[in-house]
Amino acid sequence: MKILGIVGSQRKNGNTSRLVMKVLQGAEKEGAMTELVFLHDYKFAGCRGCEKCRESCQCVINDDMQKLYPLLLEADGLVLGSPTYFYNVSANMKKFIDRCYSMEVFAKDDRSCWVGISEAMGGKYAVALTVCEQHDEHYMGFTMEALTRPLVDLGYRVIDTVKAVGFLKPGEVSENAGILEKSVTAGKRLAKTIKLRKELETKLRSGTAWPLLNRN
Ligand SMILES: Cc1cc2nc3c(=O)[nH]c(=O)nc-3n(C[C@H](O)[C@H](O)[C@H](O)COP(=O)(O)O)c2cc1C
Repeated sequence: MKILGIVGSQRKNGNTSRLVMKVLQGAEKEGAMTELVFLHDYKFAGCRGCEKCRESCQCVINDDMQKLYPLLLEADGLVLGSPTYFYNVSANMKKFIDRCYSMEVFAKDDRSCWVGISEAMGGKYAVALTVCEQHDEHYMGFTMEALTRPLVDLGYRVIDTVKAVGFLKPGEVSENAGILEKSVTAGKRLAKTIKLRKELETKLRSGTAWPLLNRN
């Protein structure tokens, strides 16, 4: 079981990165292999809207996103973390999400019908996480929706969300046991769900669950 954590803050010792790491630690406790990606380490452009991916199902821009697509395809689960910047995700996170446009396919004659590649692979699971400075969730604005709505479109069920409210200085979250624990729990839930899914797949294949499925 592989889980990929993606950090959309440029502050490597910042709050988002600390909490994404906590989510991954929780997942590791449940047996997951994890990998952490700082988007800032990857140089990639925003989506051009060229629509070339409609033909090939692949983004034609040859930059560091090409290193991230295989990681996304490989991972059973995803942790997306972004600081709140003016009520929304960071520019890096938005760029990353937009470049995932190539990972969904639309019906040629009806743009209201689409399927995410992860959905076609059987569906995947995610945790979404955001941190804001103000003490009221209102000031998080659209950040959580900006993470979860694309995740759903791309074929991820969002298992848990972490909203860390009231943290400004880099790494300040580390002094708050409650939010650290919430993040660890989110990671455990993510890994447990993936484990359950794999167990059920094995049972379905062997006919020990829903034997009717194995009827010829
Ligand atoms: C450009 C910018 C915009 C921000 N906008 C908001 C905001 O809309 N609401 C809020 O509560 N905090 C806002 N903040 C504060 C950050 O969300 C906060 O400092 C957070 O802890 C940063 O996370 P990081 O340590 O992972 O970078 C903003 C910070 C920056 C630099």
